[in-house]
Amino acid sequence: MNVLHAPRPALEGAALSGTGHAVTLTGITHRYGGFVAVRDVSLEVAGGSLVAFLGPSGCGKSTLLRAIAGFIRPQAGSIAIGGEVVDDVRPNRRGVGIVFQNYALFPHLSVAENVAYGPQAQGVPRAQVRALVEENLRLVQMADYAKRLPRELSGGQQQRVALARVLAARPRILLLDEPFGALDKNLRFDMQIEIKRLQRELNLTTILVTHDQEEAMSMAERIVVLNQGRIEQVGAPSDVYDRPATLFAGTFIGSTNLLPARIAAISGATTRVRLAAGGEVDAVAPAPLGIGGRVLLSVRPERMRLVDGPGRGRVAARLDVSMPLGATVVHEVILADGLRAKVSEPRTHDGPAHRPGDPVHVELRLESGAAIFPDGLVEDPEQENQA
Ligand SMILES: Nc1ncnc2c1ncn2[C@@H]1O[C@H](COP(=O)(O)OP(=O)(O)OP(=O)(O)O)[C@@H](O)[C@H]1O
Ligand SMILES: [Mg+2]
Repeated sequence: MNVLHAPRPALEGAALSGTGHAVTLTGITHRYGGFVAVRDVSLEVAGGSLVAFLGPSGCGKSTLLRAIAGFIRPQAGSIAIGGEVVDDVRPNRRGVGIVFQNYALFPHLSVAENVAYGPQAQGVPRAQVRALVEENLRLVQMADYAKRLPRELSGGQQQRVALARVLAARPRILLLDEPFGALDKNLRFDMQIEIKRLQRELNLTTILVTHDQEEAMSMAERIVVLNQGRIEQVGAPSDVYDRPATLFAGTFIGSTNLLPARIAAISGATTRVRLAAGGEVDAVAPAPLGIGGRVLLSVRPERMRLVDGPGRGRVAARLDVSMPLGATVVHEVILADGLRAKVSEPRTHDGPAHRPGDPVHVELRLESGAAIFPDGLVEDPEQENQA
């Protein structure tokens, strides 16, 4: 985990004083040469909240983070921290602590000396440095390891120390760029809980960059979905999951079935669609669409069930494969139009009700779980990204 200190200019108050500074991005655009990496991003991160930047590799997550930290200066737009515009403020004056992946602690310094490094560089009096070291090692549950060298710690312990090192500089904002990448699953989970606890305890505005949608869903109060340098959606995890604003947001987060359909009727906010595979269902359209228009109905696997007979909201299919995954079973079915779809059901102890090859019906349970998007909107990423 790479750690850089960008300490606050002044050190006043208690080490654990609540912070809760908001971050405001207004019209941020950044190009590398002719390539637009971040395009007109505006965003308000509420003070004390944990927000995740989520998107595929190359979508501009790190670029945005580096702009907030002050390591790059965007060609357009403005950034404010705690209501103060910081466009002309140097990185080490922004009060931002940033933690990267894959960077070791100072190997020749003990745990305590590593954590003391930031406050010492800020000229904090020695007694206060000692208090900061103790306080922050205790926060990350590493107080018993103060005298050890980094090579005498496990990977997860090193990361906790790295976090303490950033926190000891008392940042106003904590930026985390894929900080758990090098950890195995269990350690990763421990660190996620640790960060969440610290963020709450310190009321520390935290921005977490990740391409792991589960990590974003479980940790963040709000998720910012990014694609090709643009914001696709900002919302609470459940909003983004249940009501994706765009086809990209719907498919990047969670898994979903995209079923071709046409608009059959519209009444108020409800749009009835006729599936190419047969059957009609009611769905939610993020944008107005015309009757007869071709759409894709996005249905999460857990919004579908295998049933025996035909009926309203049911589609004829054939069961191809069933895969038990612990608490759930995922079935792959072939619908009447030849397309494959995934159905996820809780696993029962009665054993499988249907066998591969059986004719079945799939029931769509769309209370809040389906959205429709215009079909045939294929973006050309090359053209999109030319300045
Ligand atoms: N210094 C640079 N010069 C030229 N292009 C760059 C530079 N840094 C990043 N880019 C490009 O800008 C785009 C955004 O990069 P960025 O590092 O922000 O992506 P990211 O979302 O953090 O991706 P990842 O998940 O892989 O870390 C990418 O297409 C990348 O190739
Ligand atoms: Mg990155």
